[in-house]
Amino acid sequence: MEALRIISDEHKNFWRIAVTLEQVANEIDEGGKVDPAFFESVFSYIENFADHAHHLKEDDHLFRLMRLRSPEAHPLIDALEDDHRQAKVHLHQIKEAFAKAKVGEQSALTTALRDYTRRLKTHITKEEVEAMPLSRKILTAADWQEINTTFSDNKDPVFGEQARSDFRELYHRVVSLAPESVGLGGHSSGTLDPQATPIKGDILLKVNGLESSYGRIKALKGLNLEVRRGETVALVGANGAGKTTFLRSLSGVQPMGAGEIWFNGEDISKVRSDQRMRLGICHSPEGRQVFGPLSIEDNLYLGAYTQLKQHLSQDLERVYTMFPILKEKRKLPAGTLSGGQQQMLAIGRALMGRPKLLLLDEPSMGLAPLLVEEVFNVIKALKREGMTIILAEQNAFAALALSDRGYVLETGEITLTGNGQDLIQNEQVRAAYLGM
Ligand SMILES: Nc1ncnc2c1ncn2[C@@H]1O[C@H](COP(=O)(O)OP(=O)(O)OP(=O)(O)O)[C@@H](O)[C@H]1O
Ligand SMILES: [Mg+2]
Repeated sequence: MEALRIISDEHKNFWRIAVTLEQVANEIDEGGKVDPAFFESVFSYIENFADHAHHLKEDDHLFRLMRLRSPEAHPLIDALEDDHRQAKVHLHQIKEAFAKAKVGEQSALTTALRDYTRRLKTHITKEEVEAMPLSRKILTAADWQEINTTFSDNKDPVFGEQARSDFRELYHRVVSLAPESVGLGGHSSGTLDPQATPIKGDILLKVNGLESSYGRIKALKGLNLEVRRGETVALVGANGAGKTTFLRSLSGVQPMGAGEIWFNGEDISKVRSDQRMRLGICHSPEGRQVFGPLSIEDNLYLGAYTQLKQHLSQDLERVYTMFPILKEKRKLPAGTLSGGQQQMLAIGRALMGRPKLLLLDEPSMGLAPLLVEEVFNVIKALKREGMTIILAEQNAFAALALSDRGYVLETGEITLTGNGQDLIQNEQVRAAYLGM
């Protein structure tokens, strides 16, 4: 059900934007300022999304087939398609109200925002609670094949991988411009027992007060975190929360503004990234970043440049045993691999550095569910071998389910920590990350 997952992911982002707009409306009513940059970022996210992606595919494939299969679906689909048609009008209404607010008439804006978010939430709920379950009931395997194929077409100029990463950028813009007091990503605030670690090993990584910024945007606002030897720690949080920035700070490719990183008893805050790799901090980055023209094997060798020559063939075999497909294709350019295979290559490359601490940034991103399972199985196997892992994921449920402990990151701050199961059970986490 790749298509439904893609739709649900977008729903989550839209839901968070809706909640944020409501909070912004409250602030404006209490005398807060209207920030044009924030509103422009919201408008461009919604516009780009609605014009170029979602509705077309949903209407043309999912809804069309649902109509075909069952008369029961007709009234519901009529209503949802009507919402899609009206979406432009409704966006136009908040844009007009925003234009007036800029010249001092603010009350119309807050009313328009609340109307907009109410409609948006109703629409999303209808899709999630009524349309999706119905689609699962009435559509055939062939229907799903058609729907999933169109939704997963990564080369599609309007909804392929590039387009999706563009939306992500737009979403990040919204996040970074949202008012400080509001944040994005559902505020959970509160703490679970930070000592609740089932692993009793010694502390391998300790981070104190870590800050990092992009220009005037502070992406990490004083993070504290620790990881014990042998522990798998999930880092979960919405788009733009700072997961990638954090992992990049650990591996040393992202400069830190303040704080300390202790690794294996040593303060490595000022240690260069290649030296950190030598110490055993190996990073499988977001978006995989394999070198397309180089062969798969050469990509793996790149991960081993800090290693002794005599280890190489043994380590290579180990990666090939873990991912037989990489062995099969080892002479081919990495660019010929599918998204899932490139993810495996990125993990394999990190393993070639003989990690003491493995950093995995969204290994499940953009993968079909079966491949997600495969990648998570590999992580489980590494965990069983005793590797220490930090796993950043938007796929919070899966990440927490296999982790000993988790941290919830919200706009640059850790707001919750606890063991994986406690976090999955936590009401606020469920509301913010595990669904709506
Ligand atoms: N290269 C950059 N230049 C400017 N700002 C950036 C850059 N990369 C990230 N940011 C900002 O830093 C914040 C944290 O982004 P980061 O990519 O670390 O989040 P994330 O949790 O990894 O998000 P995602 O789930 O989408 O991968 C966001 O507000 C984002 O807009
Ligand atoms: Mg990220």
